[in-house]
Amino acid sequence: MFVNFRRIRKCQCVQLLTTGLVLCVVMVCWEQLDHHVVSHMRSYTYRYLVNSYNFLNTSFAINRRHPHGNDGSDSAVGGTVSYPYLLNHPDKCIGGGGGGDGKRRDDVLLLLFVKSSPENFERRQAIRDTWGNESYVWSELGESVRVVFALGVHPDAWQRARVQRALLQEDQTYGDLIQQDFVDTFHNLTTKLILQFQWAHLHCPHARFLMSADDDIFVHMPNLVRYLRGLQRAQAGAKDLWVGHVHKGAPPIRRKDSKYHVPYELYPWPSYPDYTAGAGYVVSGDVAAKIYRATLVLNASMYIDDVFMGICASAVGVSPQEHVYFSGEGKAPYHPCIYDHMITSHGHATDVRSLWRAATDPAVDGLSSGFMGSLYCTAVRVMLLCRPYYQNTYSCMAAFA
Ligand SMILES: *[C@@H]1O[C@H](CO)[C@@H](O)[C@H](O)[C@H]1NC(C)=O
Ligand SMILES: *[C@@H]1O[C@H](CO)[C@@H](O)[C@H](O)[C@H]1NC(C)=O
Ligand SMILES: *[C@@H]1O[C@H](CO)[C@@H](O)[C@H](O)[C@H]1NC(C)=O
Ligand SMILES: *[C@@H]1O[C@H](CO)[C@@H](O)[C@H](O)[C@H]1NC(C)=O
Repeated sequence: MFVNFRRIRKCQCVQLLTTGLVLCVVMVCWEQLDHHVVSHMRSYTYRYLVNSYNFLNTSFAINRRHPHGNDGSDSAVGGTVSYPYLLNHPDKCIGGGGGGDGKRRDDVLLLLFVKSSPENFERRQAIRDTWGNESYVWSELGESVRVVFALGVHPDAWQRARVQRALLQEDQTYGDLIQQDFVDTFHNLTTKLILQFQWAHLHCPHARFLMSADDDIFVHMPNLVRYLRGLQRAQAGAKDLWVGHVHKGAPPIRRKDSKYHVPYELYPWPSYPDYTAGAGYVVSGDVAAKIYRATLVLNASMYIDDVFMGICASAVGVSPQEHVYFSGEGKAPYHPCIYDHMITSHGHATDVRSLWRAATDPAVDGLSSGFMGSLYCTAVRVMLLCRPYYQNTYSCMAAFA
């Protein structure tokens, strides 16, 4: 009897302790829970049930009565000044001579902006030698593309002069740097976005498509060119297009320690309009023109450039389309059955050259051809992409594309 009584007391004690512990854990983790679960639920509800984001048009309109830094002159863009060009190639998109088959080389299929930082010489060189090689695209694929790098100035005042001299030399050799006089930092990425659309509007309005990409992504140029060519052949397929890896109902991050922190004053609503990951996306020429016009009348204080793009697009009534082989922040698995389909892959600062050799190897095409080949490749892709645990790569759907 005595022993029993003690046992019960012991049990209750353990129960009490466990409850206490669980409560403590919940309290400690509440912030995490709030950020990862509650804010997402709130934002999804908002995105799917409540809102069509019509308000963004007016909420982000530049207040003309208080022309803050906007003196009404041509240099004022999006509530921020448009910075002067330090390096520029206004005729990059014109000329280039006629092609053998009567196709003109100034019929530009794609203008591709690589968002680079002044000190990333190596990355730019790797891109020029591989997927950004304009001559390769012209001779192997018969299409005219232009690849340019968008830059600001080095953020460190002490190194600026040295880096700028190196950039000048690089530009004399390759003639592909577009640089404006703003500090090249994370919080100035929206300025860089405006640079791209402004430059395209001024110097390359005839390009059929415009792409914006990070300098650490890999672009499977032959697959991309084939895809764009296909769109262009389809009736009206080359119009009203914004394609990439789409973020839907993404909540603004309110944690102060996050790189992507956005205060309520800047964006009070629980979710962003749909946008594509800034790592790499493509718009058709008509959309590029509309976005450019939107940048002239919208407040550019939203410094996350892909979100700002979403705001501009929603203001002009353009919505993004998902393409399963645009990876966003994800990285492609290394396999020929993936190379066959991939368009972009993120996180390739050092292996661009080896991946380019592997991905453009003529043997890749042979592997998936025929019934058995395509069956084999689908099986491989299911194994690579449809894992039960989260991995940052193409979605499982891509296995069946
Ligand atoms: C843009 O928005 C910010 C923050 O919401 C505000 O401080 C700024 O005055 C606005 N600029 C213009 C030109 O409206
Ligand atoms: C670019 O491609 C052309 C044509 O395929 C080739 O001759 C040239 O060597 C390539 N350039 C670089 C830097 O790899
Ligand atoms: C953006 O660039 C401008 C011009 O160089 C600079 O004044 C500003 O401080 C930069 N903003 C950020 C957040 O780095
Ligand atoms: C946004 O506002 C402008 C000016 O008020 C208007 O002309 C335009 O049609 C609006 N766009 C959308 C998508 O509502």
